[in-house]
Amino acid sequence: MNTTTGHDLAKAAHLLNTGELVAIPTETVYGLAANALDPDAVLKIFEAKKRPGFDPLIVHAGSLEAIRHFVEAIPPAALLLGESFWPGPLTILLRKKPVIPDLVTSGLDTVAVRIPAHPLTAQLLDMLDFPLAAPSANLFGQVSPTRAAHVKDQLAGKVAYILDGGDCSVGLESTIVGFPENELPTIYRLGGIPVEEIEAVIGKVEVRPHSSSNPQAPGMLKSHYAPRKPLFIREEGQDLPENASYLRFSDYLPGIPASRQLVLSKEKDFRTAARNLFAALRELDSADTSSIIAELLPDKGLGRAINDRLRRASVRE
Ligand code: TXA
Ligand code: MG
Repeated sequence: MNTTTGHDLAKAAHLLNTGELVAIPTETVYGLAANALDPDAVLKIFEAKKRPGFDPLIVHAGSLEAIRHFVEAIPPAALLLGESFWPGPLTILLRKKPVIPDLVTSGLDTVAVRIPAHPLTAQLLDMLDFPLAAPSANLFGQVSPTRAAHVKDQLAGKVAYILDGGDCSVGLESTIVGFPENELPTIYRLGGIPVEEIEAVIGKVEVRPHSSSNPQAPGMLKSHYAPRKPLFIREEGQDLPENASYLRFSDYLPGIPASRQLVLSKEKDFRTAARNLFAALRELDSADTSSIIAELLPDKGLGRAINDRLRRASVRE
């Protein structure tokens, strides 16, 4: 299959209408999209990504009205969150209607739903009469793509068309929130909307992103978002290896050539750091060094989600 890149919405809609895959831009990361109501089309996503069938997909829709066609009653707190953060980097787990194939949810009775904020994808969803199932458009377990060229690097030959929407403005995947019965609302994946902002709307939540024993744990397998070379989290006072690249939050380490260091945000701005994170990991991965030493950010706001990605990308003893 020949993979092309462009801005042709009609072409993207045509491919999706005929059961093919299209990579779509969102404000978080690029997604690998298919008609969420067509199991044959959805199966192609799993094949292209080499994704295990037990890892369910997020369904993207253009409006709350569209979402109501495929979910049961939306709990009031979920509605409040949707109204506060959609379109935007928030995914909500809701009870699914039978129209959503089991393949999309890996047999779970909830479906992960989000209204993405990218204008091109919003237009595309408007043109379609079905929602789009879309995981991040990378090979399973690898770094998520934040520009069209990243998608092409990993999925050339496996997707017919990449809709090019430029660089993703958030750069981190969506925050995933669920409403388990008789429990506090629960954040299953840290992401583009910080915990503090969610709590400001619905009150106290549980944060449970690391429970790998939970089969529903969203994308939270032990190793994920991983570059090809080993990534280590830098401990204070640790020796600085010669042949390593360094990922820094805001300043350069003294004594290491600047050419081997990448700073995420000189202004210590979490948003800028999030936007740069995945492209930085890719760049350091292709540098002529044998490992990546990453510095953690302050553990609050988006810093917490960035640290989560760094920890998952890291080598664990
Ligand atoms: O920002 C994003 O969320 C991006 C863009 C493309 O929208 N998508 C994304 O998809 O990150 P993916 O497949 O890489 O991660 C989705 C995560 C998976 O780890 C999956 O386990 C979890 O969502 N998930 C999906 N449905 C679920 C469900 N019903 N219950 C629990 N977790 C679910
Ligand atoms: Mg992913």
